[in-house]
Amino acid sequence: MLKQTDRPVPPSGLTDGPAVLALDGITKTFPGVKALSDVSLALYPGKVTALVGENGAGKSTVVKILTGIYQPDGGAILMDGQRAAFPAPQAAARSGVTAIHQETVLFDELSVAENIFLGHAPRGAFGLIDRKAMVAQARGILDGIGAQIDPDHKLKDLGIANKHLVAIARALSIDARVVIMDEPTAALSHKEIEELYELVESLKAQGKAILFISHKFDEIFRIADNYTVFRDGQLIGDGSIGDVTEADLVKMMVGRDVSQIFPKRTSRPGAPVLTVTGYAHPTEFEDIGFTLRTGEILGFYGLVGAGRSEFMQSLFGITRPSAGSVEIDGVAVHIASPADAVENGIVYVPEDRGRQGAILDLPIFQNVTLPSLGRISGRGFMRLAEEFKLAREYTERLDLRAASLDTHVGNLSGGNQQKVVIAKWLATQPKVIILDEPTKGVDIGSKAAVHAFMAELAAQGLAVVMVSSEIPEVLGMSDRVIVMREGRIVAELAGPEMTPETLVRHAAGI
Ligand SMILES: Nc1ncnc2c1ncn2[C@@H]1O[C@H](COP(=O)(O)OP(=O)(O)OP(=O)(O)O)[C@@H](O)[C@H]1O
Ligand SMILES: [Mg+2]
Repeated sequence: MLKQTDRPVPPSGLTDGPAVLALDGITKTFPGVKALSDVSLALYPGKVTALVGENGAGKSTVVKILTGIYQPDGGAILMDGQRAAFPAPQAAARSGVTAIHQETVLFDELSVAENIFLGHAPRGAFGLIDRKAMVAQARGILDGIGAQIDPDHKLKDLGIANKHLVAIARALSIDARVVIMDEPTAALSHKEIEELYELVESLKAQGKAILFISHKFDEIFRIADNYTVFRDGQLIGDGSIGDVTEADLVKMMVGRDVSQIFPKRTSRPGAPVLTVTGYAHPTEFEDIGFTLRTGEILGFYGLVGAGRSEFMQSLFGITRPSAGSVEIDGVAVHIASPADAVENGIVYVPEDRGRQGAILDLPIFQNVTLPSLGRISGRGFMRLAEEFKLAREYTERLDLRAASLDTHVGNLSGGNQQKVVIAKWLATQPKVIILDEPTKGVDIGSKAAVHAFMAELAAQGLAVVMVSSEIPEVLGMSDRVIVMREGRIVAELAGPEMTPETLVRHAAGI
């Protein structure tokens, strides 16, 4: 165990009765990385425990140990005070432990109901899957979390927020005693987040023990009863949430004070670099037009489903618009594919970075340099050295934490994978970068690094489009804000008009 003096605040001595599930002195090592050293954690019935820590601190590793995906190298798992082992995910599920993982594996070709019940579908006569019962139960669970999703639809037809709701429904389809949520609100909109909080309340009322992982302090303070802080795979502190402030938690996480102040920017927008006129799509958006200048950060705010990402994907050539034109530096360009966009100096960092962003079984440096290889001139060893230099420059600026640049991206923590994708596109030195939720899943210290880097690149003339659902980020970083609702631009705000109230009012249409 940690020495008492190593803890910034003394543990408060939890008095919530016996733990349902606990970890005692758990250690887990990966090649070159000690992901967890001697950590302990206790989950109590009817209580929410928030697990907080920087990207790479070991949070998801704990989740995977508690759900039988990874085996610990040392230490014990205790259920109701008795030693337990989860040699496989099924064993954890049978013991009543279920999780909504940070990256959930779902199957695009299966229906929503099949995804929810894969591996434990209700069965009727002759042991055959009872499809009717399965669809009815799926509908019941989806209704329970306020998700308006048809259980018969194929998963691939859903957007990412709805896919995430299916993942939540899947976790809830197991009648569990312990529910683990690894950044469950990262992919959800405001309304769905509220529904998730209600769900957490109802799970608490049913006496379930909840482990809740999040980088958002407002929600931690809203729903957690207890907290546990990890830093670099070690337990730093735990206790009752009522005994700490946000600043205390941040200090425990990061080991220093971090201010949430956005970088000071003197915005000096230059010449128009991107002009979009009359962009439309048969179902997703209509009549989108704006001008973006060099050195400018243009925020796009809206509720999930407002069509922001759909428009950006179309601008980047992933989907075809039905009408509209684009000018770069005053010259009309035709963008029919992402390659056309990159050629014209426009890059897009998608929201769903796991899937659209990185090649998981290549090392970090190759992921970062891949789209910039044309710019690297050397040969052989010199070339490799240049690649490393480029990758190092961008990943350091984004506060990426990894054992080395040779580490495969698939072995990085969720937040660090996201930084690789941002680095990769920034390294192409584009004229225009579109960042879709740039700090989603990024810890508070790294968030400041990402913001500072964005501000610096804008000061050097990069034009930035930032899609964000976080109001402080939109207001703190943008020179101007475009608000979208139901596929249309409903407001363009600048200067004193940029307030939380106006954003929400326009986004919700009130
Ligand atoms: N399968 C693996 N192979 C090698 N290293 C791994 C593997 N899984 C995790 N790691 C490493 O273990 C450490 C902890 O990662 P983990 O995913 O638990 O972090 P996290 O706290 O969940 O971070 P985030 O907030 O970014 O999601 C990181 O250094 C990560 O690179
Ligand atoms: Mg994680």
